[in-house]
Amino acid sequence: MEEGEYEISRRSVLVSSAVTATLAAAGVSEAQPLPKALAPADHKVSFVVNGKGQAFSLDPRITLLDALREHLHLTGTKKGCDHGQCGACTVIVNGERINSCLSLALQHEGDEVTTIEGLGTPEKLHPMQAAFVKHDGYQCGYCTPGQICSAVAVLDEIKRGVPSHVQAELTRAPTPTNAELRERMSGNICRCGAYSNIAEAMADVAEARV
Ligand code: FES
Ligand code: FES
Repeated sequence: MEEGEYEISRRSVLVSSAVTATLAAAGVSEAQPLPKALAPADHKVSFVVNGKGQAFSLDPRITLLDALREHLHLTGTKKGCDHGQCGACTVIVNGERINSCLSLALQHEGDEVTTIEGLGTPEKLHPMQAAFVKHDGYQCGYCTPGQICSAVAVLDEIKRGVPSHVQAELTRAPTPTNAELRERMSGNICRCGAYSNIAEAMADVAEARV
C-alpha cells in the first residue's frame, strides 16, 4: 500500500472514531448504522485469499475477519471475543499467524491470506487437519479453525528458529517439545479443553516432518 493511501485510511478511521464518540455522547447507540452523510467513504483494497486475488471496496472500519466472513463468506474463520483474546479468528498472513479481528482489512493491500478453507479440503485434508481428526483435537469445533491455522504457523515458526518464552537456551534452535507447543499455542483458547489432544496432533505432524 502506498504511504498516502495508508494515511487516508488512518485518517478515515480517526474521523469515524470521533463521529462514533460524538454520537455516543448524544445517546445514539453504536449498534445503529451511521447516518449515510456521516459514514466514512469506502476504500479500495486488494489481497490474495487462499491463492485467489480479491478486490474490495470497504468501509475503512471493517476488520480482516469481517471482510473474510461477511464479504467473501469464508465463515470457517470464527469470531469469538472480537477483542484479540481467544484466537478463534486466527489466519495466516504472509506466513505469520495473526488475529484477524485486530487487523483492519485495508492494512492488507497485496498480502497473501490463508484461512482454514485454504489449508485443505474435505477430500484432501492438510496434515494438521488430519492429525486433529486422528487425535480428537476438538469437541464443539468452534475454536478449531483458529487452532489449526495457529498450529500450522507454529511449526513453521519453530522451523525458522523463532524463539519462545519457554526456550531453555536462546542460542539453540527450538524443538517442538510439549512445553514449546503449549506455550506457542497459549493465545488460542479452547473452552472445551482439548489442549492435550491438540498438542498430540501437533507433535504427530512435527515428528512426521523430521
Ligand atoms: S475473535 Fe479474534 S481473538 Fe477472539
Ligand atoms: S473445541 Fe470447543 S472451544 Fe475448542
